[in-house]
Amino acid sequence: MDYKILDSGNGMKLEQVGPYRFARPAMNAFWEPSLTEKEWANVNGTFKRDSSGGGTWKWKGGGVPESWVINFSDVNIIVKPTNFGHLGFFAEHLKSWNWVNEEIKKSEDELKILNLFAYSGVGSLSMAKAGAKVTHLDAAKGMIQWGRESLEQNPDIPSSIRWITDDVIKFLQREIRRGNKYNGIIMDPPSFGRGAQGQIWKMEENVNELLDLCAQVIDTENPYFVILSCHTPGFSPIILERLLLKKFSGKSQVSTSGEMEMVEESGQSLPAGAFARIEVQ
Ligand SMILES: C[S@@+](CC[C@H](N)C(=O)[O-])C[C@H]1O[C@@H](n2cnc3c(N)ncnc32)[C@H](O)[C@@H]1O
Repeated sequence: MDYKILDSGNGMKLEQVGPYRFARPAMNAFWEPSLTEKEWANVNGTFKRDSSGGGTWKWKGGGVPESWVINFSDVNIIVKPTNFGHLGFFAEHLKSWNWVNEEIKKSEDELKILNLFAYSGVGSLSMAKAGAKVTHLDAAKGMIQWGRESLEQNPDIPSSIRWITDDVIKFLQREIRRGNKYNGIIMDPPSFGRGAQGQIWKMEENVNELLDLCAQVIDTENPYFVILSCHTPGFSPIILERLLLKKFSGKSQVSTSGEMEMVEESGQSLPAGAFARIEVQ
């Protein structure tokens, strides 16, 4: 794995991403850093947020190439610094992806997994590598393209991923009409987003409709799981778990929830958002 969190503190995290080192915002790192100022200054790029919600990169020593490839979550992915300070993957999902991948490997049948708000495809690639039949959905064409290009870096992953550019709600309504069913759904909705035709997504207003539609595309004839995660303020782990428990049930179910976290080199955790998971028999 070519990714490490070296340290965090003063609202920032220090990361090693392949050969390059970055300092990026980590709003909830209220503590003081452990490494020296000299270590923190030894970076290729620093991203600083501004009051508009965006921000700017400050590059050092020639900066970094437009993109490069790293191994993350057992797959090769293309990393690109974006205008929002993102790099193309969110390390806090690693634990959930590992759990899903174990389920995929344990299953005697090929599991059909739906990845919603799927972004640049790291989760989809790693689930496909574990042996699932993955449907990857995102509203942004650029994200689908990014995922397809990362797939090309992995000759060992079958190219059977179904890539879809659409609005989540519209796509789910279509899947219900088609009668398509899934053994697992993972979704990481943003607080606010736009569908492929400009549809407005707001976590507070749309999450119940989203889960109602998901409940209609899940294969209740077989055991299934649903994972809901987000970074929306106010959506705590218990809230996400209650939302899932309200919409999904069967003969028996096991649910869990917690903070998403990234483990630093010191072994300490840097929290980033919340998740809940339900497994239904
Ligand atoms: C990056 S993920 C969410 C990550 C994380 N939860 C966060 O807060 O940054 C958000 C993804 O959802 C997609 N998205 C937003 N609204 C959507 C919609 N209505 N239908 C499908 N995808 C959508 C975006 O294109 C983006 O790739």
